Amino acid sequence: MPATSLDQVVSLCKRRGFVFPGSEIYGGLANTWDYGPLGVELKKRVKDKWWKQFVRKRTDMVGLDAAILMNPKVWEASGHVSSFTDPLVDCKKCRQRFRGDKLLEEKLGVEAVAVLKIEQVQPMLMAEKIKCPSCGSIDWTEAKRFNLMFKTKQGVVEGEGADIYLRPETAQGIFVNFRNVAESSRMRLPFGIAQIGKSFRNEITPGNFTFRTREFEQMEIEYFFDAERQKWEDVFDAWKKDSWNYITDTLGVSEANLRLRDHEKDELSHYSKGTTDIEYQFPWGWGELCAAAAYRTDYDLSQHEKFSGESLKYTDPDDPTRKVTPHVMEPSFGVDRITLAILLDAYTEETVGDDTRTVMKFKPGIAPIDVAILPLSKKEHLIAKADEVYKRLLDETDLNVEFDVTGSIGKRYRRQDEIGTPKCVTVDFGTLGEDEAQGAKDTVTIRDRDTLKQERLTIGELVEMLKGWKL
Ligand code: GAP
Repeated sequence: MPATSLDQVVSLCKRRGFVFPGSEIYGGLANTWDYGPLGVELKKRVKDKWWKQFVRKRTDMVGLDAAILMNPKVWEASGHVSSFTDPLVDCKKCRQRFRGDKLLEEKLGVEAVAVLKIEQVQPMLMAEKIKCPSCGSIDWTEAKRFNLMFKTKQGVVEGEGADIYLRPETAQGIFVNFRNVAESSRMRLPFGIAQIGKSFRNEITPGNFTFRTREFEQMEIEYFFDAERQKWEDVFDAWKKDSWNYITDTLGVSEANLRLRDHEKDELSHYSKGTTDIEYQFPWGWGELCAAAAYRTDYDLSQHEKFSGESLKYTDPDDPTRKVTPHVMEPSFGVDRITLAILLDAYTEETVGDDTRTVMKFKPGIAPIDVAILPLSKKEHLIAKADEVYKRLLDETDLNVEFDVTGSIGKRYRRQDEIGTPKCVTVDFGTLGEDEAQGAKDTVTIRDRDTLKQERLTIGELVEMLKGWKL
């Protein structure tokens, strides 16, 4: 159970520049969030690590960056126009609208609610005496299906544009490009296509900070395989392991706060024959972090063949007379939700002497800043020396290095702890050869965020050590 409350993290995020409320100077726009200078670095690391692990380091994977706006027929073919809905209920007293299943989750648990049919939602809300979060009364309308896709118009003539949707998942951009990628990259089954990008859903009840928003970023893989040559269960298990490994080993999220959960039959999405989520223990309970693997069968490619009239068959290179529609395994990750879990997981309050320090214990390599260079004072020649060390690290390593001169050294350490910087390097009068008591000439102090141990190294040793730092 994480010790952290959501409020502590939201407040640190604002104070230190990870995440700000969206459009704040205009009073905000409900549940929109903007990533600040540190948040954007943290999120970039989540994405870069993913891309490296799943695209760069594998010979069976390639990348794609498809358009957000797609031909509306895509969403008819995919089933999103007819089936991408959540159960909407209205409070008869105050007229506020809510997602009926989410209102029941706290009382009944995620598993029990996931299998409820839409016609069971309202009777269950009444039977369980679920109060309206807004006015407190217990008087709900029948649940109705609410489509989550954002609709807009394309075209410059007002009133005449064609209806078009903001994509609710990045996956469809991959399916419609399956033939382009397979042919241009000469990929043989099994192979996967990976994509990172924004998705949009008109969520009925967004909330819990960046957990559920209407605009969010996804990292998705569609892994195509020949279902006559490979058992789907084997592909499924392999992806479950790889997804788990990314969240735990690569990103450093604590296994104690994670679990795998298989979807019940009645809970599966319209396209899926089997889905396993990775869930995180958020301060409000277990919640979906990502889909470790979802078996989408040949549903999507077959649907796109039907609706587009184009063949999306794969020709077996060993037997050109054999044409198959590949089946698909899909691991699907939400960048914002994963970033939130990393923030919650890293948040630590520790007693040091008479003091309490807040420290974000990000895994090195995930922290937004790797190393901070801190000149002990603002004396010009000391800053010039610290700047030399800073420039050397920038030139000779790929690390994210920050130069921080403002405030006392204690305050600067405190800030670096709060933003999770694994190493701080202090340049002092010893470094300049002006004060032996501080240290020998051309040596600096390196301080470890977690152990608080300080070591004196020559600048050369520091650079070599950080060059060899495998992040
Ligand atoms: N293509 C499959 C798909 O989109 P999903 O389970 O609906 O599956 C995948 O979404 C992931 O996207 C989720 O596990 C979550 O991390 C993220 N996600 C979905 N809706 C979200 C929302 N409203 N806000 C933030 N992240 C969201």
